[in-house]
Amino acid sequence: MIMQIREGSGIHVGIIMDGNGRWATRQGLSRVAGHRAGVAAVRRTVESAPELGVRVLTVYAFSEDNWARPSQEVESIFWIIRAFLRLEGERLRKAGVRLEVIGRRDRIPRALLREIQHAEEATAMERTLHLRIAIDYSARSSIADAATAALQHAEGFTAERMRAIITQTLTAQSGDVDLLIRTGGEKRLSDYLLWESAYAELFFTDRMWPEFDRSDLAAAVNEFRRRERRFGAVPAPVPSQLPVAI
Ligand code: FPP
Repeated sequence: MIMQIREGSGIHVGIIMDGNGRWATRQGLSRVAGHRAGVAAVRRTVESAPELGVRVLTVYAFSEDNWARPSQEVESIFWIIRAFLRLEGERLRKAGVRLEVIGRRDRIPRALLREIQHAEEATAMERTLHLRIAIDYSARSSIADAATAALQHAEGFTAERMRAIITQTLTAQSGDVDLLIRTGGEKRLSDYLLWESAYAELFFTDRMWPEFDRSDLAAAVNEFRRRERRFGAVPAPVPSQLPVAI
């Protein structure tokens, strides 16, 4: 069965952008140069996403665990994201991109926070593509936070109600992830969009993130469209097996 993209909506793609450091080292460059090259790949991906039927794109820019990296690399990543928002925010808006940042906000530098707030406000009405950047993000923390917030209004709570509230908190704006891509050759989820990806199709590629381009995104989306998604049910019967109306 060929997967059909919902009419007028499009799919939600999550990307774990891995391989910046290894790509840079192989070129004899610093790891930070790899992250800078990663921005060009983000730009290419954002530009090609809408025409490939992508409605929501959630990219993993900085995890809670990334604080363990040398402080100079951490600061550089924040600086690079800030420059991206400052220099490209207006272009994104003109292209119809709504920008949103997910993750903790209390530990990121103030200057970056200001840029994020500005970009989110300026692009709030755009609808061509919803670009979500995960910064200081952990899927486990986001689930725990949603559950903690729900418990503040707790009365006669059931597991089912809790599940509905967490789903609403995490996916009301973006929907579930349909396709989760990881570049850089590793095959793990690294605490990314775990709730939202319950039924996501997974696509792993050896391409390093700075090399990722439109053809890679197109290959992943095409592979996704070829896969049969059953959501735990049985395959849909082929027409010859359908009961005949008498
Ligand atoms: C993982 O590669 C990449 C990161 C932790 C940072 C990703 C950040 C960017 C691409 C910067 C720009 C982002 C936006 C949204 C403008 P790695 O460093 O773990 O690579 P390695 O596994 O080869 O060491």
